[in-house]
Amino acid sequence: MRDIITQNREFLKDTLRLKYDFSQTDQNRGIPAPPIQKPILENQTVISLPKEKIFDFGKDKNIVNAIRYRKSKRKFTLESLTLEELSFLLWATQGLRSSIHNGHAFRVVPSAGCRHSFETYIAAIEVSGLVQGIYRYLPIEHALVLEKEVEELPEKVIQATLGQSFTGEAGAVFIWSCIPYRMEWRYGPAAHRAIAFDAGHVCQNLYLAAQAISAGTCAIAAYNQSLMDELIGVDSSDEFVIYLAPTGKV
Ligand SMILES: Cc1cc2nc3c(=O)[nH]c(=O)nc-3n(C[C@H](O)[C@H](O)[C@H](O)COP(=O)(O)O)c2cc1C
Repeated sequence: MRDIITQNREFLKDTLRLKYDFSQTDQNRGIPAPPIQKPILENQTVISLPKEKIFDFGKDKNIVNAIRYRKSKRKFTLESLTLEELSFLLWATQGLRSSIHNGHAFRVVPSAGCRHSFETYIAAIEVSGLVQGIYRYLPIEHALVLEKEVEELPEKVIQATLGQSFTGEAGAVFIWSCIPYRMEWRYGPAAHRAIAFDAGHVCQNLYLAAQAISAGTCAIAAYNQSLMDELIGVDSSDEFVIYLAPTGKV
């Protein structure tokens, strides 16, 4: 146990860059950057989302209060999240603030090397206008794509979060997967520490944005990896769940 702790402490240090020859990263070897978003398949349904310019939530809430009163919320009302609210929360966590240029696009959250290695899946439990199922956010189009309808979704979410029952009472569960290669392309074996940092930025923005619309969320890092990967339909190797956050009205 002590050995593993010592070894894992090393993960938190920026020492890999001293050991690794960065001239050998795929980026430095001239390999084109991977796409910033997974493709949409031909038969998939795309749902447009209300756009950023019409968000007028939280006019009376300021950032100072959003920071001051942020806390993890594990009790949600039965009220559905509206599509506009979900749209706002998606934009606040992964929305683009520039178009794609040289294989990257700036977003509303920071990311090491602007690699943004996450995809955002939504387990839509109570979102007005959406059938229960797994959706994926498309930052480029600011839209959702339906990955699959899922029966007994709340029960499956609870099971995949090791019985944390409040996760199945949320309107929408934000499930972030990572595609490590997006970061490895630039940083090679030094990529993984940056991926972990980046996940924190995304979730913190969700906390603050939720606070501004009388909703709430709770970061979740304790879950069953294989059940969660299976729920969103990823291979657990080139893409896997890294973090999640059930979100609902409070
Ligand atoms: C990385 C991380 C993982 C967490 N995992 C869980 C979790 O699995 N279940 C849970 O109920 N809360 C989880 N939390 C929420 C913490 O328990 C919560 O942030 C902490 O108790 C402080 O409370 P506050 O967020 O209200 O300030 C997690 C928080 C973080 C940042």
